[in-house]
Amino acid sequence: MILPVYLYGQPVLRKVAEEIDENYEGLHQLIEDMYETMYKSDGIGLAAPQIGLSIRLFVIDATPMEEDYPELKDFKKVFINAEILEIYGDEMDESEGCLSLPGIRENVTRQSKIRIIYQDENFVEHDETYIGFAARVIQHEYDHTEGTLFIDHLSQLKKRFLKGKLNSISKGNVDVNYRIKSQK
Ligand code: NI
Repeated sequence: MILPVYLYGQPVLRKVAEEIDENYEGLHQLIEDMYETMYKSDGIGLAAPQIGLSIRLFVIDATPMEEDYPELKDFKKVFINAEILEIYGDEMDESEGCLSLPGIRENVTRQSKIRIIYQDENFVEHDETYIGFAARVIQHEYDHTEGTLFIDHLSQLKKRFLKGKLNSISKGNVDVNYRIKSQK
């Protein structure tokens, strides 16, 4: 089932999300629905707060970009209760967008390596390191579970410049081909 994507301005996007365990009802269906919603909206990642659930869950399928970024090869994963233990490496600038912020794309500076612990959809624990664009996508989605959006990483000047656009987005004045939930 395709779920509505919550747009900028919805309070759930600003909450620190809660951990879940294997008793979370309907988890496997939820994961399936999140992938379906993400594919429909041409995203490469989707976090539960973006569909209105304040839980520590995000899904990624970055394989459509694997030709440009070898580190994304076969990178399709479910992250539950993730915790980034370390962010390190060189600072890199890359353009980012977000399904909750349609029409906005900006360069975001992030460090190029992370170490993360998380559970997969079967609640098996993982302790892994990621580099480059994979580390970036994870940081972006992880931020959602912390109530942070990529625009929070921009300069004050850039943010001021985006104010009008953000206001429109929060009112649902966007041109997208996926279901949305906004103030209107
Ligand atoms: Ni996002």
